[in-house]
Amino acid sequence: MQDEIRQQIKELLKEQNGLLLAHNYMRDEVQEIADITGDSLALSIEASKTGADVILFCGVHFMAESAAILSPGKKVLLPRPDAGCPMADMVTAEELELLKSRHPGVPVVTYVNSSAEVKAHSDICCTSANALKVVRSLKEDELIFVPDRNLGRWIAKFVPEKKFIFWEGFCPTHERMTVSAVLQKKSEHPGALFICHPESAPEVSELADHVCSTSGMYDYCRTSPANKFIIGTEVGIIYKLRLENPTKEFILASPALFCPNMKLTSLEDILLSLQTMTPVISVQEVIRIRAKVALDRMLAIPRD
Ligand code: 13P
Ligand code: SF4
Repeated sequence: MQDEIRQQIKELLKEQNGLLLAHNYMRDEVQEIADITGDSLALSIEASKTGADVILFCGVHFMAESAAILSPGKKVLLPRPDAGCPMADMVTAEELELLKSRHPGVPVVTYVNSSAEVKAHSDICCTSANALKVVRSLKEDELIFVPDRNLGRWIAKFVPEKKFIFWEGFCPTHERMTVSAVLQKKSEHPGALFICHPESAPEVSELADHVCSTSGMYDYCRTSPANKFIIGTEVGIIYKLRLENPTKEFILASPALFCPNMKLTSLEDILLSLQTMTPVISVQEVIRIRAKVALDRMLAIPRD
């Protein structure tokens, strides 16, 4: 049955000149059939340059919205439009405008985990993979960072010369990873390296041997001479880590590292989406144009 579904998905993608993009947190079977898997930055880049007519986005709403902003001529499908991001919902454009009015002239750096409307009211976007570069690219010595307080505070440590105004948003999944859970895993696996995502609480990031985006974790684990890693991010990342490093061991730092939104999309949802060519994600043109400026500024910053 699953094989049949996979086959139908492949055929429909071919027929419609579609590209299946999947975030690193998606279910294993979704990552397995994706044309490209990646972190938010890699997927934004793919969406901005693809020649496909249809982008089928397996991720959460803000990611598909970014694809729609960057590729206006393409049809962007999000098989589960109810897959949202609680962090992205923690700031609205009105709230951001109010904060801006209290700090006139201060540039706004917005994490891509945000709505198109919030992006449209921002100067530049960032992802966890390029946030430091984005902040360093600003000539101003003060900035507003929304919505992730943990990513913002992590980055701020490396740029003490800049003053940050933080928004108190957070990722509930990463914040469920406690210090005691990490210490417990460290004591069960002495010698294992602990790697976590910068969305983690500051006291958890302090315990890490390395803090990076999801794609950064693949690079780090692949090139590290170590063979045992405690992973502090959403469980979906384990699938490809094990696939790419069959001789290395990966231990999830906490069973709480499960994002319900990232786990919504099934193969059946993908097939239905391709059969019906719905649900289409689109962004109002006035918002899209302004949000694209903030995303394009981010994409213009060279990667490592
Ligand atoms: P990255 O893949 O950019 O590290 O993002 C993590 C995340 O929480 C996406 O929702
Ligand atoms: Fe949002 Fe966190 Fe889920 Fe990513 S892992 S989609 S930031 S709730």
